[in-house]
Amino acid sequence: MLINNLLFSTFWGLVMKIFVDTADLDEIRELASWGVIDGVTTNPTLIAKSGRSFKEIVDEIFKIVDGPISLEVVGTTAEEMVKEARQLAGIHRNVVVKIPMTAEGLKAVKTLSKEDVKTNVTLVFSANQALLAAKAGATYVSPFIGRLDDMGHEGMQIVEEIVDIFGNYGFKTQIIVASIRHPVHVVQAARLGADVATIPPAVIKKMVKHSLTDVGIQRFLEDWKKVPK
Ligand code: G3P
Repeated sequence: MLINNLLFSTFWGLVMKIFVDTADLDEIRELASWGVIDGVTTNPTLIAKSGRSFKEIVDEIFKIVDGPISLEVVGTTAEEMVKEARQLAGIHRNVVVKIPMTAEGLKAVKTLSKEDVKTNVTLVFSANQALLAAKAGATYVSPFIGRLDDMGHEGMQIVEEIVDIFGNYGFKTQIIVASIRHPVHVVQAARLGADVATIPPAVIKKMVKHSLTDVGIQRFLEDWKKVPK
């Protein structure tokens, strides 16, 4: 099984993508400079938190990261969402339009998929919601793991279910594990074979650190001083 998975991933060049879940430009700049960021996800809360205008933020993000950038609609009817999505998609070739998981959202995704507008169905809290989004033609679905954990559920379980369901039927819709709260969530997402983890900057910074790495570097540097010059 392990060998099969390995051969499959190697053949298709698959590796879990890492998106940064923020609208903070300084954080995006810093993390992009590490060379491990494949895309960015935002939402109205993150945009509001940044204290800058929407236009200012998105113009800059496109300059920093050349990968999928999720921008969310705020309309509530399919008609409003489609109109907004077309405008957002016109901003840049990397735009992915975030659409909320509602019946109106599904209608909008169906229309947009026929126009090749990339969509990310957000606020997904069950495998059934993900199944419907995939059937409507979503490019991505975003199960919100941390918010389920907050309610006393095992959030990662729905990721496992969605991976199984999409695998059973060959859906091309990619799974973005979202609402990640700590590094263990990232390991779990990768072990389940999620396509993408969208991670807050603070968690990405925790992923890079290990106290034994720091101690090890310190000791190597100290010992190097003892080497005769
Ligand atoms: O990508 C979704 C994410 O921004 C939601 O995270 O921490 O508000 O549940 P959180």
